[in-house]
Amino acid sequence: MLYLIPTFQNPSGVTLAAGRRQPILDLAERYNLLVIEDDVYRDLAFEGRPPTSLFALDGGRRVLRIGSFSKILAPGVRLGWLMGPPGVIERLVGSGLRCMSGGVNPLMANILATYCTQGLLEPHIERLRAIYHRRRDVMLESLAAHMPPGVRWTRPGGGFFIWVTLPAPLRAAQVVDRAREANLWVLPGDPFFAEPPAGQHLRLAFSYVTPEQIRRGIEALGAVLTARAD
Ligand SMILES: Cc1ncc(COP(=O)(O)O)c(C=O)c1O
Repeated sequence: MLYLIPTFQNPSGVTLAAGRRQPILDLAERYNLLVIEDDVYRDLAFEGRPPTSLFALDGGRRVLRIGSFSKILAPGVRLGWLMGPPGVIERLVGSGLRCMSGGVNPLMANILATYCTQGLLEPHIERLRAIYHRRRDVMLESLAAHMPPGVRWTRPGGGFFIWVTLPAPLRAAQVVDRAREANLWVLPGDPFFAEPPAGQHLRLAFSYVTPEQIRRGIEALGAVLTARAD
């Protein structure tokens, strides 16, 4: 099995280029891998359409594509969806989750089905795109204004996250502690690594905070990094 978050990835915000998608599917074919495309951020695109999903490219043969209402409606509803080859979907529908644990919350599923069939989801996503796009722009502008030399960051075309790489000798763990003293909460990158982490990364989320909070937060982070760099 091959698990990927190819579009507006968590934690880095990066997107797998269109030209690299078919070669990955070719490899999956060659090694007979089932591909899981975790695609929960695709709808939150700020700069036109993201590259075609692996699921669509592959014609739904060996890719299972995951979607979630967590990123486009509310995390608390705890509901998502799965697209995939009929044989695999049938096996999942017949699995223990549905037969023995009662499956998903039917009340929530029916509320969301009504919400969607009334055409309310698309305009809501449209509003979210505009809000998150603005927040991303404010965060990118603030980073450019306040980061000391040597700090690098990604420029996501959608989703929630910017991935910051700190130059040595700055260490993410120390930066996170110092930021907390300044009442600023940032996530270190370490928990996102399967391999031993380099300790040089921070994940910044622009989704939840207002533009004004982003400006103040990035300015405060810049002050923490500058103090450490001295
Ligand atoms: C790539 C990715 N997939 C799935 C999820 C979680 O989705 P859900 O809340 O539907 O379990 C997240 C949330 O952080 C995520 O970043």
